Amino acid sequence: MSTRYSFGPGKVILVGEHGVVYGYPAIAGSLSRGVKATARAAKRPMLKLGRSLAAPAKRSLSRAFEVGLEVAGRPSLEVSLESELPLSMGLGSSGAVSVALSRVLLEKPTAAEVESLSLKMETVFHGRPSGLDHTTSAREGLLWFQKGVARGLTPGKPLQVVVALAGKRRPTKELVEALRERQSRWPRRYQRLFEEIGRLVVEARTAIVGGDLDALGDVMNVNQGLLSALQVSGPKLDGMVQRLRALGAMGAKLTGAGGDGGAVVGLFRDPASAVKQLRREGVECFASELGQVVLP
Ligand code: PMV
Repeated sequence: MSTRYSFGPGKVILVGEHGVVYGYPAIAGSLSRGVKATARAAKRPMLKLGRSLAAPAKRSLSRAFEVGLEVAGRPSLEVSLESELPLSMGLGSSGAVSVALSRVLLEKPTAAEVESLSLKMETVFHGRPSGLDHTTSAREGLLWFQKGVARGLTPGKPLQVVVALAGKRRPTKELVEALRERQSRWPRRYQRLFEEIGRLVVEARTAIVGGDLDALGDVMNVNQGLLSALQVSGPKLDGMVQRLRALGAMGAKLTGAGGDGGAVVGLFRDPASAVKQLRREGVECFASELGQVVLP
């Protein structure tokens, strides 16, 4: 057998995080960055893991690989992974690993087979995943999510974003639980905020499909305001949001669970010059077109 390669892209949530947990919609897009898997024929199945990985990450990767091997009929492959995504920053790294592994372990899989196996692997990483990460990765597109159902969206104009990292953050589960506590104490106030976020997601869809980037940017800015109202943003994220806007973002907001760090997404007409300037300032960042995978 010749060497086999596969790719699973990462993701960003463009609008609607947190509200999506309460049944409101969200829109997510796949990134051009992700995880590459390489498989070579071997005497027995094996996952090669980098030495720098922490023990818990090694354990869950090995367990996910084992799940993949069982479904794929234990092919005798030695698989290695290369990730371009930072871990635990809300960029869907485990969903991307799951998709890359599914694609390389299964023999000429259908899209449905990839989605089904990568969901099983995501369950190893996250217990009860929302499904948003691996679905966005497997479909490599821009997706509308609501109550576990995903539908593709076709943007009227390309969506060029800059993703900038604002430091380490707490796990998604903790942030979702802390918000759940506030929401159950003061349900009516939080319901108003989630409803407004839901309306923004509908407006974002109209802007995306109609190619109105200014309107989409404004929706993102207002969404950031509501995420602050939900108390899931913090000084590092707020600072990075302001920095991206100062560099010409039509809209910028945190993406994913938020907290004391994590990733910020900005919508740009000219992402290249913003990335250059941010890197000069020592910010870890990259540009990507959403829903447009460039195979490595
Ligand atoms: O930061 P991430 O990629 O784990 O995203 C979390 C998104 C939430 O809406 C906060 C949680 C969820 O399960 O949808």
